[in-house]
Amino acid sequence: MNKKIIIGSDHAGFDLKNILAEYLKNNGYEITDAGTYTKESCDYPLIAKELAKEITEGRYEKGILICGTGIGMSIAANKVNGIRAAVVSDTCSAKFSRQHNNANILCLGSRIVGEELAKDITDIWLKTDFLAERHSKRLSMIE
Ligand code: RB5
Repeated sequence: MNKKIIIGSDHAGFDLKNILAEYLKNNGYEITDAGTYTKESCDYPLIAKELAKEITEGRYEKGILICGTGIGMSIAANKVNGIRAAVVSDTCSAKFSRQHNNANILCLGSRIVGEELAKDITDIWLKTDFLAERHSKRLSMIE
């Protein structure tokens, strides 16, 4: 498994980003922090675009984006060709967003999920593989 992960947030996701980054480091992942680096108000589309490009340009396979709801980050990241960003608030969606959708960005809402649930979602999301088969054709149709 590729253990290089890039993580980013806006101000609303800043605390959860730091918690998750620390948690993932303690679990053997190599984490790159794409910002934001303070709790000062900032614009999530800029962070989403920068992190998405890191993935589509091949420097990372998977990333995590956190804002208040996860929704703004996902809308912005999905504008970048080749990104499949999924907003996830439960462990079942975490599994299927990988198995069926081959999501390459996990979007979390810091105002929606608590830190323990966010850790469980992230664990499952990072460890679950894409099933390919019939799902590959459907992803090609989206492309
Ligand atoms: C910031 O207040 C908030 O709008 C942002 O974090 C995010 O939830 C947008 O979708």
